[in-house]
Amino acid sequence: MPDDKKRLFRTRLFDWFATNHRPLPWKGVRDPYIIWLSEIILQQTTVQQGTPYFELFRERYPSVSNLAAAPDDDVMKLWEGLGYYSRARNLLATARYIESELNGLFPTTYEDILKLKGVGPYTAAAIASFAFGLPTAVVDGNVYRVLSRVFGIETPIDAPEARRIFTELATEILDHERPADFNQAMMDFGATHCTAANPRCAACNLQADCVAFQTGKVGILPIKLKKMVRRERFFNYLIINEGNSVFIRKRVERDIWQDLYEFPLIETDGLDKLNLVDLKSQINAPFDLIKKSQPFAQLLTHQRIVAVFWEIKMRNELENGFVLRGHDFLKIDRSTLPNFAFPKTIDTYFQAVRDKKNGQLDFQF
Ligand code: ADE
Ligand code: SF4
Repeated sequence: MPDDKKRLFRTRLFDWFATNHRPLPWKGVRDPYIIWLSEIILQQTTVQQGTPYFELFRERYPSVSNLAAAPDDDVMKLWEGLGYYSRARNLLATARYIESELNGLFPTTYEDILKLKGVGPYTAAAIASFAFGLPTAVVDGNVYRVLSRVFGIETPIDAPEARRIFTELATEILDHERPADFNQAMMDFGATHCTAANPRCAACNLQADCVAFQTGKVGILPIKLKKMVRRERFFNYLIINEGNSVFIRKRVERDIWQDLYEFPLIETDGLDKLNLVDLKSQINAPFDLIKKSQPFAQLLTHQRIVAVFWEIKMRNELENGFVLRGHDFLKIDRSTLPNFAFPKTIDTYFQAVRDKKNGQLDFQF
């Protein structure tokens, strides 16, 4: 890449950044803990969705030692609704690791930051540049898109060599005097200007230097080979009411929603595959079916979940608690449901119940 092309790109990007940058609460922060916190929250999450969570976490856990001392369930509860819950588990594991193994001191080199659980090359580069001014370029989907368009790179972004090619290019272009500003400018430009669906080419100061724009390829760059397929799963959640109590459990398996709570679950291989006869044999004690909900669908990265909620009232007290398919359940008072972290599918269902019941989380009783 000729030096003048690199210089031109940097100049145009910084010109854009000077008038367009977003005032975000982690900008200009130098504390690596706070930067790390913001970057973990912003993985797979938009700024709009992540910002309120960042504010909550920063307020509740202002330092790594505060976070390290937090109970698991508190962190999961604060994370509720943000998705990709392994981030929350890694966040806590890493805070505890830094506190106990690194004397509470955040690592200061790119290589050491990269060793932290939940921190990949993108996040390590962001922390290294923002906190320590190191010349490490961030490379993610936004950066792939901007670089592939501006420099006309037709390497598919899901090809094995994509990460190396785009990282080399981003590192060449990076402003070594101002790596933090450069990275932040790339992030903002990709997220708000050179977007996937509606890039603002008409108002872009890179137009004359943008290969995609000059060759009419904005719509086809970046190139991606594979189309994603999602596995469909069908969940029947049983809301087993016994007086004022209901049964829940923590999902501990290596599956989606690990460490979140759920109701007794019967998974089927299609919608409407669970009938009342099956349900009776599974529950194996007298009950009344009060209501079966409409299906609630949730898209995850690799799966589509369709959940139906069966509101059930037991006729008698269950002597040995409730056991289903080898799982034991906690018996809790219904009024304490808001204290537990649930997957979004279940929270959406709760909201639908509340909307019908004047804000009360009460089922049909
Ligand atoms: N996405 C990931 N990190 C970000 C940051 N620091 N600012 C804006 N969006 C981001
Ligand atoms: Fe992106 Fe369009 Fe600007 Fe090129 S001209 S950098 S495609 S917004």
